[in-house]
Amino acid sequence: MSASKKYLDTLLQYYEEEISGEAYLYDLINHFAEKEKLTLLAKVERHAAIAVAPLLTKYKLVPRAEDKLTEEGLEHVAPHAAMEWRVFGQYMADRYPRYLDDFAELENMAPHEDRTLLQFLTSHEVAAIEFARRELENDPESCAPLSQYLATPHPLQT
Ligand SMILES: [Fe+2]
Repeated sequence: MSASKKYLDTLLQYYEEEISGEAYLYDLINHFAEKEKLTLLAKVERHAAIAVAPLLTKYKLVPRAEDKLTEEGLEHVAPHAAMEWRVFGQYMADRYPRYLDDFAELENMAPHEDRTLLQFLTSHEVAAIEFARRELENDPESCAPLSQYLATPHPLQT
């Protein structure tokens, strides 16, 4: 199966959104006491992005400059900066599953050989959702899914 334009555009868009997401999460550190948790979430974004970087190289897709992506990420901070932590947790638990649908769609559009890397991208969202759910349950091990994801090496490109 060859790579469609829609697949390539979406792949690049999602890569860029992870980089923007990292900047957004690092900025939220200024607004919440849960700085270590937000740092882990930000690192998860970067870890996910790096996993699919070989696909960008493969298809000669060039992301926009990181400053630009940072700027875009920061545009999303304001509505969340004033939230209480639990409200933010609920937001994550409610909103992030829809990203899972988007990632599943990306996997479905992808040539078979790209799917291992894309599944690794998808699984960062699974980890973030699990983190949010555990936070809402006051689980002291809420960060475990994030730490596990960060400890998982990127798959090799097939
Ligand atoms: Fe993400």
